[in-house]
Amino acid sequence: MIFGRVKSLDAILATAEKKSLHRSLGAFQLTMLGIGAIIGTGIFVLTAEAAQKAGPGMMWSFVIAGLVCVVAALCYSELASMVPVSGSAYTYTYAVMGELLAWTVGWALILEYAVAASAVSVGWSGYFVGLLANAGINLPMELTVGPYAGGIVNLPALVIALLVTWLLMIGTTESARVNAVLVVIKVTALTLFVVLTLPMMKGQNFDPFLPNGWFGQMAGLGAVGAAASIFFAYVGFDAVSTAAEETKNPQRNVPIGLIASLGICTIFYLLVAAGAIGTMGAQPVSGPAGEILAPGSTALAERCASLAAMGQEPLVCSREALAHVMRQIGYPTIGNAIGIAAFLALPSVILIMLFGQTRIFFVMARDGLLPEKLASIHPRWKTPHIVTAITGVAVACFAAFLPVGKLADISNSGTLFAFFMVAIAVLALRIKDPGRHRPFRTPLVWIVAPLAILGTLGLYLNLPFDAKMVLPVWGGIGLVLYFLYGYRKSHVGRGIVEVHEDDPDAPPPPVPPVPSFD
Ligand code: ALA
Repeated sequence: MIFGRVKSLDAILATAEKKSLHRSLGAFQLTMLGIGAIIGTGIFVLTAEAAQKAGPGMMWSFVIAGLVCVVAALCYSELASMVPVSGSAYTYTYAVMGELLAWTVGWALILEYAVAASAVSVGWSGYFVGLLANAGINLPMELTVGPYAGGIVNLPALVIALLVTWLLMIGTTESARVNAVLVVIKVTALTLFVVLTLPMMKGQNFDPFLPNGWFGQMAGLGAVGAAASIFFAYVGFDAVSTAAEETKNPQRNVPIGLIASLGICTIFYLLVAAGAIGTMGAQPVSGPAGEILAPGSTALAERCASLAAMGQEPLVCSREALAHVMRQIGYPTIGNAIGIAAFLALPSVILIMLFGQTRIFFVMARDGLLPEKLASIHPRWKTPHIVTAITGVAVACFAAFLPVGKLADISNSGTLFAFFMVAIAVLALRIKDPGRHRPFRTPLVWIVAPLAILGTLGLYLNLPFDAKMVLPVWGGIGLVLYFLYGYRKSHVGRGIVEVHEDDPDAPPPPVPPVPSFD
């Protein structure tokens, strides 16, 4: 019975206890860690997508997505503090709900991390190309956007994805200082944006506030549709949960860290959105006959090209939304500075996402669910170079040919599924094993976890049709692979008790958990 194939929670906990835990993190450091992992392409780039979907009503989208993240994060923390090993949602599900569901979660996490890395690569490319253009170097469009926007290949996105893959393969790690500096750069860029735009806001730019309504005429539009996409801007907060084992008094500090980092990001996002809407306007661009144009579509790209020829560059047409707003309102130098901030900081988000991906692959392969060769460690670099290379090439290919919004939506479908399963796992374990010690208990779990289940499901159902379909199709492929391979090879299925998440040769994370100025 495959549902009975659970990883032994006791074995995992015993291994975790053997590690010498440095409980050194406090609420402040956790919050910094969260902010560092969260801010990226979502706010820097997808603000333009959200405007096309929801207009000024995208402010509600940021609130809705933020609230779903808070309840999901509270559930995540309970399991993260109980099963304090990396491998995240995949390991939690394996220990609570068994191998088959764990496989589906691991398989969905591939979607989350790998496709998110592609999305951030495309986001980075937009800023890079914009910076060059402002320096008078215009790269040919054929080489800077994919076929969806009239180009051939997004070469900068492809190159950055491969470059980051290479750094990961050779075992590059970011120093704590670099990480801290990048957090400061991102926060400073957003603060500057807010301080300069808010005094210039015009009330009429907020009218009509909900041009596409709450749900829009097709899935993926309206304020809720935009919330499903902008959810991407919050992804990364799981970094706080997974640091639970290194946290002093996790019962108090983990929820503070999670809620503070999500809360601070939500406030920043709302202020940035208000600044962008209030200064430039954020009404969706419609076709010549007034028809709604889907974000990322060729029709929208063509419409934007014709508007550009007339000298108009609305927010929704920009690939570097925040820098574009600054330039349009008369601060070209600050616009370039914000561009440089994104140029510097986004590769670190790609690195974190790609690493998360290879780590999940690595653990799944060591559990026997994927060929073990994939998890082999390079003798000199000490990294799982084979999975890293395979993942990196796939990430680069997606980045080269697909638009950022579509990639973010696809990534969201995997992430929402993983969080949905984690919320169920929390409830299942409360019923199955109520007496087990929980370093952090989700407050009001019978309200919070159902809200997380409903919230993640609701956002998933509001993704555009194609992004929604990717999950079952990808899941179907995963199930076929599982029954052809993993089911027979599984170590748990063969009665082997082991915890690979903490193998001594497991690669260390590329980014230290705490930004510090030491
Ligand atoms: N939240 C991260 C970003 O927006 C993934 O780039």
